[in-house]
Amino acid sequence: MTVADPLIDLRSDTVTRPTAGMREAMATAEVGDDVYGEDPTVNALEAEVAALFGHEAALFAPTGSMANQIALQLVVPPGDELLCDADAHIVTYEIGAAAAYGGISSRTWPAVGADVDPDLVAGMVRPDGYFAVPTRAIAVEQTHNRGGGGVIPLATLRELRRVADANGLALHCDGARIWHAHVADGVPLAAYGALFDTMSVCLSKGLGAPVGSLVVGSAEKIERARFVRKRMGGGMRQAGVLAAAGRYALAHHIQRLVDDHAKAARLAEAVAPFGVLATAVRTNIVPLDLTKSPLDARGLAAAARAEGVLISVLGPRSARLVTHLDVDDTTVDRAATTLTQILRN
Ligand SMILES: Cc1ncc(COP(=O)(O)O)c(C=O)c1O
Repeated sequence: MTVADPLIDLRSDTVTRPTAGMREAMATAEVGDDVYGEDPTVNALEAEVAALFGHEAALFAPTGSMANQIALQLVVPPGDELLCDADAHIVTYEIGAAAAYGGISSRTWPAVGADVDPDLVAGMVRPDGYFAVPTRAIAVEQTHNRGGGGVIPLATLRELRRVADANGLALHCDGARIWHAHVADGVPLAAYGALFDTMSVCLSKGLGAPVGSLVVGSAEKIERARFVRKRMGGGMRQAGVLAAAGRYALAHHIQRLVDDHAKAARLAEAVAPFGVLATAVRTNIVPLDLTKSPLDARGLAAAARAEGVLISVLGPRSARLVTHLDVDDTTVDRAATTLTQILRN
């Protein structure tokens, strides 16, 4: 690396900066006060996202975490229970929000990548009654962040829908990266939408918008979601400048995710001979398992940083690389060379 080389940031797909076209869309967006429901660009984005997933309505929220937490409050009353896997973003990275804001009790099944065993989940459901915490909802993550960007097959999701229906439960999808699953498995977004009572979807991960997520659901649920969002401090005013970035991202940045997946596959191919690939790579995340490597995760991250490549440390022996809009093929190949040199030594 020379001094002039910029850092190659593979920590997350949240690090992207708005493109020129996106900035232009933001600068020229029509806006109004969205707390009064008067921002035409927000209203258009909400209608567009609801239609994409075949739902009645959607609500713009500042973050994916808030969108998840609003949705959970719609389907799990205080004191009642949510089931999800132990690595889910909801119980790992949302700082206990379900308990803190919704009074929600969460119980988890062991995480095995993105795999879900519907029978195991069915066996965890507690019935209604006054003697045990009643289960009210199941949440899944598509794609799975800590599960290395893995994709839950449509057939598994259908099984989970059956489990939810058989027990009168809601099914929520943390779909921060559902776009990646759609592109990887060729499943229409509406086919995913048909399976869930509530969804959260993010515009600021692989799609490249600076800010923004949406809660998706029935008109009745989204009406209630508007109230919960305001209570949580998420009522924004002239948010159309942000919604415009989201609309631009939906129009221009979904199909190009195949490029991010191909770049992740190239990185995976480069590091695989060193025995550090945690799972097969399906989307834009390359999960690294360093249990058999002389370098631990911090060691690898520090050595990579010294050579201008940033990666994420997830645990003592666990790290990840994420591809996105702001790293092209040449950049990814440079990162691959850097990482293989470090792993070889
Ligand atoms: C799977 C998943 N859900 C939710 C979120 C939360 O998004 P935000 O950072 O916008 O709160 C993230 C963030 O990376 C995520 O990976």
